[in-house]
This record gives sequence, structure tokens and C-alpha cells, in this order.
Amino acid sequence: MPRVEAPAEERELLRNILDALDTGLLALDEDRRIVAINDTLAKGWGVDRAEIEGQPLSDVFKPEVERWYLPERGVRGESGRGTREIRGSVADREVLMRYSVRPLGDTGGVIVRVEDLVDADSDEEVFRNTERLISLGELSARVAHEIRNPLTGVRTTVQFVASKLRAGDSRKDDLNDVLKELDRIEQIITDLLLFARPQAARPVPTDVREVLDKVLDNMASRCREASVEVARDFDETLPNVMIDPDMAQQVFLNLGINALQAMPEGGLLKVGTSLRRTRYKKAYVDVVVADSGPGIPEEVKEKIFDPFFTTRSMGTGLGLSISLQIAREHGGNLTARNSAQGGAVFKFSLPALLSPDGEEAKE
Ligand SMILES: Nc1ncnc2c1ncn2[C@@H]1O[C@H](COP(=O)(O)OP(=O)(O)O)[C@@H](O)[C@H]1O
Ligand SMILES: [Mg+2]
Repeated sequence: MPRVEAPAEERELLRNILDALDTGLLALDEDRRIVAINDTLAKGWGVDRAEIEGQPLSDVFKPEVERWYLPERGVRGESGRGTREIRGSVADREVLMRYSVRPLGDTGGVIVRVEDLVDADSDEEVFRNTERLISLGELSARVAHEIRNPLTGVRTTVQFVASKLRAGDSRKDDLNDVLKELDRIEQIITDLLLFARPQAARPVPTDVREVLDKVLDNMASRCREASVEVARDFDETLPNVMIDPDMAQQVFLNLGINALQAMPEGGLLKVGTSLRRTRYKKAYVDVVVADSGPGIPEEVKEKIFDPFFTTRSMGTGLGLSISLQIAREHGGNLTARNSAQGGAVFKFSLPALLSPDGEEAKE
């Protein structure tokens, strides 16, 4: 980021003024690295500013649930306005902050103003100011978050009571029904959180094969239980793509779970990667997830990507819409078709990161 060069004295003066404010200030460059932090915030965070200047924000402050809401370059209007809250850990402490964001001129950087900061685990009553507008997305995310904790309490109690009943007691079945319903609520909340959270993706060069390996390894025992065989067909050399790795994982998990659910009697889950070049010399990395289930019925084909569309009694209908949203946000796409053999085939594609001469950037 181009810095304004001011004479040393002037800079010193400026710095003293910023340090005297009781608002925390943080300047980030286009790549969300910390360019400057004032004394107030550095103290609040308990960090040495000389040490953190120049570092990516994500290495210094680790958000717990929400992502930072940082407007992209060139996004104007409501994006920069409004106060938001974020909870996370910095220098081994849990803190809760209220902040707002402004673009830093035309540089692509942003200024984060931290108006309030408390230790998240302190008993202090936090942030009473209710006179702020929050978006519907934020509201849903908060409600979802608030429901979760009591729900866990209810679940534990029900489980405890059920464990006290003798096998064969019909009340035990009733309680198990309650547990199933609780699972369903939990699933809806998880999906709602993902769907509603203000998504500020942090794309980095990513090898999709690594993410796929991780997801498939995680799913291995579920596949075994369901008698589903997994076949990986990954290209030996494949360029990276720019994606937020957490989001990539979310997409692959959604597709993997959907495939598993489509094969209750067992079957074959094929996951492949490949590089595709278009006529216009663009290149895409394709990830194909194919199952040997019944495929997608003709009459629902148009709807499967709609939020809340589901044909499963326990479904939320958010998996595919979230995945599509993630694909589009990264300049890619997610498509579905049925294979000639009948199963469903989902293809997630993202622009490939190639070096300027068009050769694969990564072996
Ligand atoms: N692999 C698949 N085979 C057949 N149908 C599928 C498959 N994946 C998704 N679908 C259809 O798309 C719908 C929406 O999927 P999704 O958005 O993941 O929501 P959910 O899994 O909660 O139903 C599913 O209910 C199902 O009808
Ligand atoms: Mg699903």
C-alpha cells in the first residue's frame, strides 16, 4: 500500500494524537495485513505493536465464530457502516469487541475502529447499546448462536433421564424421539449460521486435493458404516485455486454427505479432480463428486440449489445453496447432473491459478 510520506516530526505528532484516543484504531492493507495499530488497541489486545505490524490480521486475532466484516475494495454504501461485534482470541486472551470499518481512501485497505473491547470471559455486562441496526443475516446468526447453548443443556438432561430408564421402558423411546428432534434443530441451526453469517471469504492459494483428502478421511468411518466405497481419482499435477480453505471444506463435506445420504444401501462415491481449459484460454480446476444413488429426480432438478429446498425429512435444504454461494463468491460454479448409470454428479469448478505463460503453477 502506498504510504504517505510525512516528515518524521509530523508523523511523530500524528502518532501521539492517535495514541491519545480512547478508540482503538487498526489500519489494514489490501491483503488484510496490519499496517498500523494505535497504542490503545495494542494495549487492549495485550500485544507488542512492533511485533504485529506487517503480520496478517488472521495470524494475530483469531475470530471465534463470526468472521470479520471487512468490505472488499470498491464496495461502497452500507458495507462500511454500522457497528459490528466480534469475539476472538488475541495473545491468548478471549476478547469481545465492537468495531466499525471504513475504507482507507482508494488503497483497498481499511481502517478498523474498535469502540469497545472487553475480556470475553469476564462477568461484566457487555455492550448494552441496542440502538443499532443489524442486518437480517446478523440477526439470524445471533439467534442461532443463542439457541445453541440452551439446546445443549436440554440434550444433556434428556440423555441423562433416558439413561436412568430401564431398557424396554416405552418412555425411553419417547425420549429418543425427543433427541432426534433436537438433532434436527441443531442441524438447522448449524446450516442457518453458515448461511446467514456475513461471509468475508479469505481466499488463499489452495490445493483442492489436500482439502478433499482431509474431508474424505473425516468421512471414512461413516462411509464404512454405510458400506460406501470411496474412489479418489486425483490429477497428479493440478494447479492451485484461490479459495478460503474452510469454505472449500464446507462445500466438499456438503457434497460428500449428500452423496452418502443418497446411498443408504451402500454404493460407490467417486471423487475426482481435473484441469479443464476453455476455448477462451481460461482454465478451471474441476472437482467432481459422483455417487451411485438414484440420482436427482427430474421434477426437483430446478430447485435443489434453492435455500431450504429439501426432499429429506431431516434435511434443511441449505447445503447446496451455501455451496453454490461459496462457488460463486470465488469466481466459480457448482452444477449438477445425473450420470448415464443413474447416480448424481456434482461439479464444483474454480478458476485455476496458472503462471502467466499458461503452465501449471504448481506440480
Ligand atoms: N447426491 C444426491 N443425489 C440425489 N439427490 C440429491 C443429492 N444431493 C442433493 N440432492 C437433492 O437436493 C436436495 C437439497 O440438498 P441440500 O441443499 O444439501 O439440502 P439437504 O441435504 O438438507 O436436503 C436434497 O434434499 C436432495 O433432494
Ligand atoms: Mg445436504
